[in-house]
Amino acid sequence: MLVCPEQGTATAVSKTINAIRGMNDILPADTPLWQEVEDVMRAVLQAYGYAEIRLPIVEHTELFERVIGEATEVVEKEMYTFADRNGDSLTLRPEGTAGCVRAAIQHHMLRGQAQKLWYAGPMFRHERPQRGRYRQFHQVGAEALGLEGPDVDLELILLCARLWRELGLEALRLELNTLGVPEERARHRSDLVAYFQDHREALDDDGRRRLESNPLRILDSKNPQLQSLIDGAPQLIDYVGGESREHFERLCAELDAAGQPYEINPRLVRGLDYYSRTVFEWTTDRLGAQATVCGGGRYDGLVQQLGGPATPAIGFSLGVERLLELLRETRGEGPTALSPHAYVVVAGAGLEGAAQRVAEGLRDDLPGLRVQTHLGGGSLKSQFRRADRSGARVALVLGEDEHAAGEVTVKPLREDGMEQVRIAQDRLTEHCAGLVQLTPQQ
Ligand code: HAM
Repeated sequence: MLVCPEQGTATAVSKTINAIRGMNDILPADTPLWQEVEDVMRAVLQAYGYAEIRLPIVEHTELFERVIGEATEVVEKEMYTFADRNGDSLTLRPEGTAGCVRAAIQHHMLRGQAQKLWYAGPMFRHERPQRGRYRQFHQVGAEALGLEGPDVDLELILLCARLWRELGLEALRLELNTLGVPEERARHRSDLVAYFQDHREALDDDGRRRLESNPLRILDSKNPQLQSLIDGAPQLIDYVGGESREHFERLCAELDAAGQPYEINPRLVRGLDYYSRTVFEWTTDRLGAQATVCGGGRYDGLVQQLGGPATPAIGFSLGVERLLELLRETRGEGPTALSPHAYVVVAGAGLEGAAQRVAEGLRDDLPGLRVQTHLGGGSLKSQFRRADRSGARVALVLGEDEHAAGEVTVKPLREDGMEQVRIAQDRLTEHCAGLVQLTPQQ
């Protein structure tokens, strides 16, 4: 029991409340990496002429049913759908393309002009949480509306490749396929259904269920016992005719010319119904089962299907959590891009104010320098421990001696050949100027 001081009454200690499973807090130790990735994304997307669009998190359920497809796993099983107080059926967005296309139509953005848009934010899918799979996760997505391609297909893929390069990621592999146009897919689908119906007894329960709802998804099955059956199934690529094939071949030729490696994966179908022609995924071996970091493709029929003008389109979204996990795998632990450059150690009683003045002076003189001043007292040892853990490159030590002499001791905290020096406070700016340019990894 706790006694509540204001009221002098006893209250029961309450049970703590945790976050919903699969919906994660992003803690201060992790936010620097998030911010770094967000900054790189924004810079690269802007460098390719994409403009940011900010979209609601909740939309009418019907939007997702129509865009993603009623028979997809996402719509069938994974949407967070609820009735609001008016009785309207609303859904927390499971992805960003639907809202982006809805907004472009609603605001008449597609009349005679192309749009290159990007968005970022949380998405929601009621999946079984595991490593790399969450119920609230974050995507950064780009959508190019009104461009037939394959030049824009090429540009989007090169944009992704640049993102990985800027982040120092090498472990991503590009897989490509073409899904043809709806008539080609319909012919393939009916042959596929006939094939699997002939082999119905060889399918597992999931396969039989998908045979009724979405037979293409059988091709995605991870069940090793189905693999030879799947290998023998009619392949969509054999149904893809002249124009789609040419579109795809031109894209492949341009990727070759750009030196961008890729693999054609005839089984790549993607989990959402709106795709046509080019589809692609960036995958890695380093994240276990949830290997797809980024996926996208063309959806040439979607805008019209939602009541807009006929508008070819292509886009992609990347999963930020998966990307960050891959970054952590690649880089290991260590100081982050937002660690302070300098940590001010207060090495004497009553010097707190003087230490803050030193820090303020540096912040005035050197915008961009991150200076953290030790707060809350404590032994020198504990202050140095904090300084070290902060990832700072130098400690600025202000003791009684230094204070009396108008000086500061600059103590390097990383093994990078810097010498410890004691210098006049009015030379500190000059001494620290070089730190602003340095990233923590250097
Ligand atoms: P998607 O393949 O469903 O495509 O999702 C894109 C990426 O979001 C995935 O590759 C993955 O990295 C991440 N992701 C999906 N579900 C989860 C989850 N439960 N937990 C963590 N990460 C997840 C789309 O959403 C399409 N809107 C992409 C697109 C844009 N196509 C055209 N334009």
